[in-house]
Amino acid sequence: MWRANILWVLGVPALVRAATYPLIESWSGNGFMNGFKYPVETYDNTTNGDVFWATAANTSLIYVTSAGTVVLKVDNTTVVPYNEKRYTPKLLSKTQYAAGTVFVMDLIHMPYGCSVWPALWTQGNDWPKGGEIDIMEGINQQTTNQIALHTNTSTCTQSSSTSFSGTAGWNDCSIETNNDSGCIVNDTRTDSYGAAFAQAGGGVFIAEFSDDAISVWFLTRSDVPSNLSVSSNSIDTSTLGEAAAIYSSSTCSISNNFSPQTLTIDITLCGAWAGLASVLEQTCPPLSGTATCYTTYVINQDPGTTYANAYFEFNYINIFSSSGNSSISASKSGSGATSTITAGAGTSSSGSTSGTGRLTWSGLGMFLTGVMGYVLVR
Ligand SMILES: *[C@@H]1O[C@H](CO)[C@@H](O)[C@H](O)[C@H]1NC(C)=O
Ligand SMILES: *[C@@H]1O[C@H](CO)[C@@H](O)[C@H](O)[C@H]1NC(C)=O
Ligand SMILES: *[C@@H]1O[C@H](CO)[C@@H](O)[C@H](O)[C@H]1NC(C)=O
Ligand SMILES: *[C@@H]1O[C@H](CO)[C@@H](O)[C@H](O)[C@H]1NC(C)=O
Ligand SMILES: *[C@@H]1O[C@H](CO)[C@@H](O)[C@H](O)[C@H]1NC(C)=O
Ligand SMILES: *[C@@H]1O[C@H](CO)[C@@H](O)[C@H](O)[C@H]1NC(C)=O
Ligand SMILES: *[C@@H]1O[C@H](CO)[C@@H](O)[C@H](O)[C@H]1NC(C)=O
Ligand SMILES: *[C@@H]1O[C@H](CO)[C@@H](O)[C@H](O)[C@H]1NC(C)=O
Repeated sequence: MWRANILWVLGVPALVRAATYPLIESWSGNGFMNGFKYPVETYDNTTNGDVFWATAANTSLIYVTSAGTVVLKVDNTTVVPYNEKRYTPKLLSKTQYAAGTVFVMDLIHMPYGCSVWPALWTQGNDWPKGGEIDIMEGINQQTTNQIALHTNTSTCTQSSSTSFSGTAGWNDCSIETNNDSGCIVNDTRTDSYGAAFAQAGGGVFIAEFSDDAISVWFLTRSDVPSNLSVSSNSIDTSTLGEAAAIYSSSTCSISNNFSPQTLTIDITLCGAWAGLASVLEQTCPPLSGTATCYTTYVINQDPGTTYANAYFEFNYINIFSSSGNSSISASKSGSGATSTITAGAGTSSSGSTSGTGRLTWSGLGMFLTGVMGYVLVR
């Protein structure tokens, strides 16, 4: 808090990047859903996944465990009939977070498996105008996390002169170039995604959204410092070590491209990226005959096994910000008995985010990369 006060006293705008940010919101356990709402739309109308979005009624898909962790999972008990969709979660933060915000998400498990496409991301109002930050995203049995930005103007590119640990792919963030692949950085560590993430005990994804830069860190469980916990009252991003990805304002006009962001958590199935046969077959068995991603997985007669690993399990999400833009006071709740989370259905205390953002085209870059690899091999 002291840092923000000093900035105020000096008359420096609060949006200036501060290395230390105070906690403004903390979401965990029985209080987790107080920070989120469900989307207005009932199905995935942005990435064409074969899913209906879960609602508050789906207490077997969104719940708190006896250990106090929060599970958001794909329905793996229903045999879905042909032409129907499978229920999966999508949550949107009630608050829109302005520049000067750090998102800290501690998970012990993330969804993975053939047809599964999870993401932890943020979106501005009126996508794509307010920009999109993909903090954690991947498909099928991919082994590393993919970070990306998507912008509505051509004033944002990734500079390779900035040092970070990930591998840069497409560097133009505009939705109008490279078929809206976004500017991509792959994390190089296999414990940043999927089965290896879970085997390592999970970890923490951290994104700093400031006017100076958008940066993403991933800390595998054994690298998480003991003072980075649900109880942290502030975070100093200069102590986090080398970032996996940095998008500097020297080549990306962050203030022109990113409005206050809605944190978004979802799991879709198949759809515009994970479901493309040529992409699916990069990490999953070849589809036979007329089989598709949908017929092979979504309506599989053995959903228990097919989607046994298609779930998020969160320890907590903490939001730190010097923007002073939280509409909700920090709400902490520790572990407790297994219970149902009920708050949040379709309500918003801070504007009208309706989940119109989309991750769709980040897949095409991967698709093209795959095709090129295929051609080269031949
Ligand atoms: C998805 O549905 C919602 C709610 O009806 C709507 O506001 C939004 O524009 C739709 N998005 C797309 C891309 O059609
Ligand atoms: C999810 O809720 C819908 C009603 O909104 C219901 O039809 C469906 O069976 C539920 N699925 C699960 C797995 O709870
Ligand atoms: C705070 O968030 C609201 C939306 O909830 C947004 O309209 C406003 O511009 C934000 N404030 C700042 C300083 O960015
Ligand atoms: C920004 O997006 C809107 C549609 O949402 C589009 O009309 C406009 O041309 C875009 N601007 C640029 C510079 O791409
Ligand atoms: C990023 O990782 C994906 C696999 O997850 C791979 O297909 C792609 O080629 C990688 N891109 C770069 C630039 O390393
Ligand atoms: C975009 O996709 C189309 C096919 O839909 C392809 O022909 C074109 O080469 C792609 N452009 C880029 C820059 O990847
Ligand atoms: C953890 O402790 C280190 C060393 O004192 C400090 O630099 C860092 O800011 C602390 N991190 C958090 C999240 O409190
Ligand atoms: C269904 O998914 C849960 C995890 O969400 C898993 O514990 C369970 O074993 C799965 N069911 C089957 C039959 O594999």
